[in-house]
Amino acid sequence: MIRSMVHEHRAELGDRSIRYLESGAGWPLILLHAFPLQAAMWTPQLERVPRGWRLIAPDIRGFGGTAAADGARPSMEDYAADLIGLLDALELDRAVIGGLSMGGYITFAMLRLAPERFSGVVLADTRAQADTPEGRDNRRTLSELVRTRGPAAVADQMMPKLLGRTTRESRPEVKQEVRRLILSNDAAGIDGAIHAMLQRPDSTAGLGRISVPTLVVTGDEDTLVPVADAEALQRAIPRSQFVVLPRAGHLSSLESPDDFSEALRNFLLSNL
Ligand code: MLT
Repeated sequence: MIRSMVHEHRAELGDRSIRYLESGAGWPLILLHAFPLQAAMWTPQLERVPRGWRLIAPDIRGFGGTAAADGARPSMEDYAADLIGLLDALELDRAVIGGLSMGGYITFAMLRLAPERFSGVVLADTRAQADTPEGRDNRRTLSELVRTRGPAAVADQMMPKLLGRTTRESRPEVKQEVRRLILSNDAAGIDGAIHAMLQRPDSTAGLGRISVPTLVVTGDEDTLVPVADAEALQRAIPRSQFVVLPRAGHLSSLESPDDFSEALRNFLLSNL
């Protein structure tokens, strides 16, 4: 296993800046974090970056070290435009793009915006469908919760759903890290993402047009995106492969870091 140094950087985009974590050197791979976490959730993968690859993990607008923009709440397209701006600032013509859960929703928006910029896709514990009416109601309740009681209340509500049974029962260090990552975000950034997710369009119609190699990976204890849903996502994408990680929940990259990193490495080295 390769353990690589992780560096923190900022890219200047006009009057704003995006913080990102980076490790390795070579072909670029961008990984987008889940809600309501931040780029540091990819630390296990940053530490295990495959030889010949440069892993870049940005904080989405309003999370971690990337400030929210003034004015209206962001949309998925705003997040995607920020990240295309990051590619431009880093002078990266093409990259492999991927994300976990909300990071996957943003990946779909980036594929709509600039498909020619991507040579491969990684979709972890995510779905292409928009929210159901019931899901939107739940988001409105969560928005009210974060605005009145802050990130800690969101952590209390979401952690039992984010983490698989094995992690909840036997990985206290993962629980502690996930809570720490959630609590170091601002209520406004979390609320912005809740509304971006609530309003995101359905991405299923575009799946058949993803023409580059794609990895769909999921934890077998993920209750937010059950294995059958992840498998249906993989079947809809032409050049895709599917990996199920045992004893991992929705945050599969953190809950099963060695297996996730191995699946990522095998995909990158054999397809790209
Ligand atoms: C995530 O992990 O990013 C969230 O569970 C996504 C969502 O709430 O739809």
